[in-house]
Amino acid sequence: MSFKAKIQEAAKSKNSRLVLALDFPFESIENRNKILAKSQKVLKAVHPYVCAVKINHHLTLPLGTFDGVQQLVEQIRGQGILAIMDAKVNDIGNTNQIITEYYFAAGFDAIIANPFVGWEEGLKPVFEVSKRLSRGVILLTYMSHKGASEGYGQTIIDPKTGQHTPQYISFAKKALNWGADGVVVGATVPEKIAEVKRILGEKVAIYSPGVGAQGGAGEKAIKAGASYLIVGREITNSDDPAQAARRLCDSIKGI
Ligand code: XMP
Repeated sequence: MSFKAKIQEAAKSKNSRLVLALDFPFESIENRNKILAKSQKVLKAVHPYVCAVKINHHLTLPLGTFDGVQQLVEQIRGQGILAIMDAKVNDIGNTNQIITEYYFAAGFDAIIANPFVGWEEGLKPVFEVSKRLSRGVILLTYMSHKGASEGYGQTIIDPKTGQHTPQYISFAKKALNWGADGVVVGATVPEKIAEVKRILGEKVAIYSPGVGAQGGAGEKAIKAGASYLIVGREITNSDDPAQAARRLCDSIKGI
């Protein structure tokens, strides 16, 4: 089964289109075991309200991929939800392949990659590994922070035809052609979600981070065409993460 189908199933069974970004503030290295305990506690409380959990350097650096993070991935998958590695893979093909193999060996169901590196000797090996292991690839298309306009928002000019295309539109088309399972478009730019949705239709899901702490509104992102919201600090910094997740989950039901 494809990652796209697996997450649809998890979303249906949990009745949630929320992806938890399991991020915590910096801890001194002596205290890094606290981060594992905190992560386990938040996961235990929040898993009924999410269909997947996204992990990135916030956890791989202090906990180690084949140590604390692998334990968390087992906990996530044991709860009937999926684990996404937000590695933003962004190197030459050979290195990208090794990065992807290691994260999938740790049990992740999908990996986030950056299409700026291109296909040949870029992301092609990431898609090949993912296909072989039945995992997913999600491509950055327009990031949620302000500076995204400097890269994802640039206009590119086709040297042959002279045609002008926004970079993120080109990435959305590549996501279709390369067979990506999803794209990331910030909730902070709902008008761009709508443009990307017109290209992708139901073929490639849109994941939207930037809700709450970064100023984006979840309902607007979903109305514009996002399939899933990615939310971190609004939940993980809350005094009651389960309640925060349930509120966010309920706020987009039926849209
Ligand atoms: P907050 O706390 O702002 O965390 O809810 C958001 C999480 O999502 C990541 N993030 C992104 N990941 N493309 C991505 O692949 C993006 O445009 C993007 N914006 C935020 C961020 O690293 C954090 O884990």
